[in-house]
Amino acid sequence: MKSLTSGWYEHLVRPLLFRMDPEAAHHFALRLLHAAPSIAGGRALLRSFAPAPRPLTIFGLNFPNPIGLAAGFDKNGVAIPAWEALGFGFVEIGTVTAQPQPGNPRPRIFRYPKQEALINRLGFNNDGADAVAQRLRKLRQGPLRPSIPIGVNLGKSKVTPLEEAAADYLYSFRQLHPVADYIVLNVSSPNTPGLRTLQEHDALIALLRVITDENARLPAARPILLKIAPDLSDEALAEIVAAGEEFGLAGLIATNTTLDHSAVAGEGDQSGGLSGDPLRQRSTDVVRFLRSRTHLPIIGAGGIGDQESAQEKLQAGAQLIQVYTAYIYRGPSLLREIIAGAS
Ligand SMILES: Cc1cc2nc3c(=O)[nH]c(=O)nc-3n(C[C@H](O)[C@H](O)[C@H](O)COP(=O)(O)O)c2cc1C
Repeated sequence: MKSLTSGWYEHLVRPLLFRMDPEAAHHFALRLLHAAPSIAGGRALLRSFAPAPRPLTIFGLNFPNPIGLAAGFDKNGVAIPAWEALGFGFVEIGTVTAQPQPGNPRPRIFRYPKQEALINRLGFNNDGADAVAQRLRKLRQGPLRPSIPIGVNLGKSKVTPLEEAAADYLYSFRQLHPVADYIVLNVSSPNTPGLRTLQEHDALIALLRVITDENARLPAARPILLKIAPDLSDEALAEIVAAGEEFGLAGLIATNTTLDHSAVAGEGDQSGGLSGDPLRQRSTDVVRFLRSRTHLPIIGAGGIGDQESAQEKLQAGAQLIQVYTAYIYRGPSLLREIIAGAS
């Protein structure tokens, strides 16, 4: 089975996609995935990749399996029915910002096939909170409404000064919480100037206070998670855990991409965040450290690309995991490969 399905992707589809510019290939794939569920036979084809169910309940949500699509793959939520059909246990849309924005100049995604890695400096290109909220509202009212949890990952608009970050997140939160099963505060992208400083104590407390106060006023509060960088000291991680517990967060997502590019040194290094296999060890270490300090649920991300690396994150203390870079290198049979080995 493995050789049939993953061979088809790795030997036929990937070489075609990898002939294209990385971002062009990404948009091409998203367009196909957007269309596929509405085409006769399309949904069945996608479903043929889905893994066997391994249901679990975390922060009050029911997940058919523990593997999610990480933020940034489907920033605008254009292909949710396809991700569900392909067998993802949950999908994280975003990063969405209050204002629509184009992101950084292209090229801004770079492949490192030898390392099964990517560097990106997209800079939160997205349609903006109003448009994404509208798209998700329509989806939830239609025949293809999702039955898996849909998270929405929020970031700061580039034009908003850092001092006004909390208000920017709050605007997006208000637009998107009605259509999200959980909300992520992303304070860890390396591609929006200053964003990572929101992980520092005072700024983080200010952000968490604004969002959790608003959440507490809702008739149905949403689980709020915080997504963190892999490049933090143990001391900074411990402070984040303390803040997360104080404000009653539902969980932590560890980790975003890294600024440590030593794994691709000498291979045409580009500025941006590195993801994929070279990130695996560090993100697992962060998950393990967090687990040693807290009982908060953890979603592990970073270099998950097979059974072993998925098990590693779960054994380090993650309840759920997310994939991005390896899905590009391994294709849609990745989920079955991972689930088959889950204990
Ligand atoms: C091209 C690209 C774009 C990304 N965009 C986002 C984003 O918008 N928001 C976010 O929180 N993480 C973003 N990420 C980070 C991923 O969600 C994930 O945390 C990280 O890549 C580690 O997982 P991986 O090694 O499986 O790729 C992006 C990653 C890549 C490769």
